[in-house]
Amino acid sequence: MRDILQLMVVLFCLPGTWAQGESEEAHQGLQTSGQTSTDIWVELRALRDMVVEQKVELTYTKAELQTQRDKVASLEKENAQAAELAALVCRVTTSEKDVTALREELNLSKNELLLSKSRLDNIEKAIAGSPKVAFSAGLTTAGKIGPFNIETPLVYSRVFTNIGESYSPITGIFTAPVKGVYYFRFTAFNNKKGEWMAVNMYHNSQRMLHNSELSDVHSFIANALILQLEKGSVVYMRLHQGNGLYDNASTWNTFSGFLMFPL
Ligand SMILES: *[C@@H]1O[C@H](CO)[C@@H](O)[C@H](O)[C@H]1NC(C)=O
Ligand SMILES: *[C@@H]1O[C@H](CO)[C@@H](O)[C@H](O)[C@H]1NC(C)=O
Repeated sequence: MRDILQLMVVLFCLPGTWAQGESEEAHQGLQTSGQTSTDIWVELRALRDMVVEQKVELTYTKAELQTQRDKVASLEKENAQAAELAALVCRVTTSEKDVTALREELNLSKNELLLSKSRLDNIEKAIAGSPKVAFSAGLTTAGKIGPFNIETPLVYSRVFTNIGESYSPITGIFTAPVKGVYYFRFTAFNNKKGEWMAVNMYHNSQRMLHNSELSDVHSFIANALILQLEKGSVVYMRLHQGNGLYDNASTWNTFSGFLMFPL
């Protein structure tokens, strides 16, 4: 640019210089005047060449400027893409957090499911492992029993059910096959008016109940106990001394029991 300005200054100033030169040359003579004119033309050509050169340089500069502009545009585009990428990364991170939360929830459900399954397995095992115990027997079809001077074992000989064979119809004794909670029930009957009937239920050597009734034409006693038994514990019924019962095919007197659950 400075070069162009210099050139313009030179061009504007040229006529004056020229005139000045001419007037000086007039004093110096014709020979020197012709020499000066040639120099100016040479200088002018040089200047013109310089202008052309500057033009070319300007074209290059413009091209370079365009290149720089393109680069800036490209960089801006890249910048925009980077911002978009950052937003995308942010979204992906959020999604990842969601997935983690869901995974934790799933894990929780899975753990609950496993717990339920384990409980179910335990129940199934308990059911499979628990022995099946249930018995029910009638006393006799023979009619009158007692009274006796001493307390006498009641042997319920008419077995209806004896799952697990834990009840003996020979001795009338039930023996617990496993530690557990058992349910026992009996009925007692007498039909001799004015005679007392009384029965006792024993757990091993301990009398658990003593139920009595002064008989009318038809008299009944019934009761039940839930007992916690150790394995091998025995439960049985006895007829109290001086008391009578009556039984026949109608099954008035029964002794029943079953295992509710093992312990
Ligand atoms: C899933 O739960 C188990 C038991 O609570 C725990 O040990 C494990 O680290 C959990 N896994 C995940 C991915 O949360
Ligand atoms: C059984 O006993 C009841 C009550 O005493 C009596 O009514 C019934 O006739 C008896 N049955 C037999 C077959 O003896």
